[in-house]
Amino acid sequence: MSNTSQKTHTVTLIPGDGIGPEVTDAVVRILEATGVRFNWERYAAGAEAFEKHQEYIPKDLYDSIERNKLALKGPVTTPIGGGFPSINVTLRKKFELYANFRPIKNLPGLETRYPGVDLVIIRENTEGEYVGLEHEVVPGVVESLKVITRKGSTRIAKFAFEYARKHKRKKIHAIHKANIMKMSDGLFLKCAREVAKGFPEITYGEHIIDNTCMQLVMNPYQYDMLLLENLYGDIVSDLCAAFVGGLGLVPGANIGDDAAIFEAVHGSAPDIAGKDIANPTALLQSSILMLRHIDEAAAADRVQTALENLYKERKSLTRDVGGTAGTKAFADAMIAALESPVTASK
Ligand code: NAI
Repeated sequence: MSNTSQKTHTVTLIPGDGIGPEVTDAVVRILEATGVRFNWERYAAGAEAFEKHQEYIPKDLYDSIERNKLALKGPVTTPIGGGFPSINVTLRKKFELYANFRPIKNLPGLETRYPGVDLVIIRENTEGEYVGLEHEVVPGVVESLKVITRKGSTRIAKFAFEYARKHKRKKIHAIHKANIMKMSDGLFLKCAREVAKGFPEITYGEHIIDNTCMQLVMNPYQYDMLLLENLYGDIVSDLCAAFVGGLGLVPGANIGDDAAIFEAVHGSAPDIAGKDIANPTALLQSSILMLRHIDEAAAADRVQTALENLYKERKSLTRDVGGTAGTKAFADAMIAALESPVTASK
C-alpha cells in the first residue's frame, strides 16, 4: 500500500476491563488492516493484573511504556470510595503525560444534538485534585489537597497555545473558579495570561467553570479551544461528548515530552460490558491520533475516510448511535472498507 512506512511500530497495549477488551480488539484488527506494521506488547492493568501478578500495574508494563514511549489503552475500572488508586491517573503521573488532548467533532452523517461542533479540550493531566493527597484530619473531617504549580500550569498553557498556532485555531478560553479558589485557580490563570502574551494572533478569554457549562449547552459554537485544570477538564469533556453523539465517539490522547498514551474519554462501561454492543469509534479515533503521532498520516487518513463513510452511509453502526450492529460487526465493516479499492491505496 502506498505511503505506508515499512517500519514496525512497537506499541504497549492495555486492553483494560469492562468493554475495554472488546473495543481494543476491534481497533487492533482495524489497525492491522491498514498495512502499517505493529508489534503489540499486551499487558493487563488494574484488578485483572492484581489477580495474576499481585500488582495493579505490573513492572513489565511500566518497562514496556518506558521502552516504547507509546501505548494504546482501553478503559480500566477504578473502585469508588476506596480500593486501589486509578490506573489512568498513576500512569499519567508516572510518565508525566501532562496534556490530555480531547478533540470534540461531529462525524458526518450522524445526527446529534448540535451539528458542526469543532472544539478542542486541553486538560491538565497531572495536578489539581488528582494528586491523590487526601487524609482524615480527625474522625469526620477529611482534607483533600488540590495542587496547582507554576510549572504545571505554564507547560499546559504552552501546549494549548502551540497547538492552536500549529493548527490555526483562533481562540482559547481558560476555564477556572478563581473567584473562589483565588490562589490555586488564580495561579493557573496567571500562567495562562503570561503564555498568551507570546501568541498575539490567538484570542485569549477566561470564563468561570459554572457559567461555562451553561454557555456550552446554550451555544457550544462560541468556543474554539478550552484550557482547563484536571478536574474541570474531566467533567467538561464528558459534557462536550454529548454534543457529538456521546461517549462512544470521543477520542483522547495523554501526551508528555517523552511518551504518549492514547485512550478514549469513556470508562469501562460495566453496564454494557461483554455484550458485543460497545461502540469502538472513540478508541478508533484515539488510534487515528496515534497514527498521526507516529507519522503514519496516510494510514490515519484512510481510517478516517473509511470511518466517515461508514457513518455517512449509516452502515454497521452500533446501537448508541442508532444502529443495530455489534462491536465485532462494526470492526468487520471497517476492515472491509479499508480493503476496498476506494480506500485501500489512497
Ligand atoms: P463510562 O464512561 O464507563 O460510562 C458512561 C455511560 O456511557 C454508560 O452508560 C456507558 O454504557 C456509556 N458508554 C461509555 N463508553 C461507551 C461506548 N464505547 N459505547 C457505547 N456506550 C458507551 O463511565 P462510568 O460508568 O462513570 O465509569 C465506569 C468505570 O470506568 C469507573 O470505574 C471509572 O472509574 C472508569 N473510568 C475509566 C476511565 C479510563 O480508564 N480512562 C475513564 C473514565 C472512567
